[in-house]
Amino acid sequence: MGDNGKDIYLPAAAEVVRVEQMTKQEKFFEFRLASGKPLGHMPGQFAEVSLPGIGEAPISISSSPTSGDTFEMVVRQVGNVSGAMHRLEPGDEVGVRGPFGTTFPVDGELKGRDLLFICGGIGLVPVRSAINYVLDKRGDYGKVTVLFGAKTPGDRLFVDELAALDGREDVEFLETVDDTCGEKWNACVGVITMLFEKIEVSPESTTSIICGPPVMYKFAIMGLHEMGFTDDRIYVSLERRMKCGVGKCGHCQINGLYTCQDGPVFRYSDVAEVREAI
Ligand SMILES: Cc1cc2nc3c(=O)[nH]c(=O)nc-3n(C[C@H](O)[C@H](O)[C@H](O)COP(=O)(O)OP(=O)(O)OC[C@H]3O[C@@H](n4cnc5c(N)ncnc54)[C@H](O)[C@@H]3O)c2cc1C
Ligand code: FES
Repeated sequence: MGDNGKDIYLPAAAEVVRVEQMTKQEKFFEFRLASGKPLGHMPGQFAEVSLPGIGEAPISISSSPTSGDTFEMVVRQVGNVSGAMHRLEPGDEVGVRGPFGTTFPVDGELKGRDLLFICGGIGLVPVRSAINYVLDKRGDYGKVTVLFGAKTPGDRLFVDELAALDGREDVEFLETVDDTCGEKWNACVGVITMLFEKIEVSPESTTSIICGPPVMYKFAIMGLHEMGFTDDRIYVSLERRMKCGVGKCGHCQINGLYTCQDGPVFRYSDVAEVREAI
């Protein structure tokens, strides 16, 4: 049993409400628990999604808990479970265990702070939950800056929401792609850290949240250090292979840390010295 009295090994049934192809590899899903209750997550958490006879995979929850009783996910097709999820249609059912893991402290120490979100590729998926939470309670936070980097224009997720962010006066939004691949593109070209010189943030009043491909963390953190950020003002969301999701099997261990329970969201100062964490 979990702390809330729920059996942590027993999946709850959830119905597919909406499916959309987002990019060549990624599909968007909206789910509703058969119980009609909200999933009860906070930004940064994940759930184990299962399909009978196929398996189970940890997937980040991309919607904000402020957005209603359904919850949203984005799945990249890479293997058995994600492949089967890509064949789902509205009305189909999946099993869901969770929510699990640590959260971006949007209701705690991030309140009142300026926020700098740094999202690379599919790293936007879990961070979107925090961004939308913050925007739904905009008055509780200071300056909000969002940086997004994708490989190519065609790999960008949530394009309408990115355009909406760009149009907001209370958010500074900048994006870049590694390569335009010949597509029409009016924004920056280059790695996400190139955007650092275009923004004005005060390291004393700002907390940064980073999620992206493994190679991005090292360079983003180096850039933040150069700007004057200390490690305790940086949060990272880390991904590791997981099985149980609840601290029992050890699959997700990084030198004694269980990514499923101690993470996936870590304060960087807690993992900076942990070998192989970043
Ligand atoms: C906290 C968390 C959040 C996540 N959020 C998302 C999300 O929002 N969206 C999303 O699409 N994915 C997400 N993932 C990743 C997702 O869980 C994995 O890609 C998962 O493996 C997909 O399951 P599958 O059965 O489709 O693929 P698998 O059959 O597990 O295969 C996936 C890929 O990994 C390789 N692989 C398989 N086993 C191993 C192994 N033991 N060691 C190394 N490589 C292996 C395979 O060859 C294949 O290329 C998340 C993972 C974690 C831990
Ligand atoms: S996934 Fe089993 S201990 Fe973390």
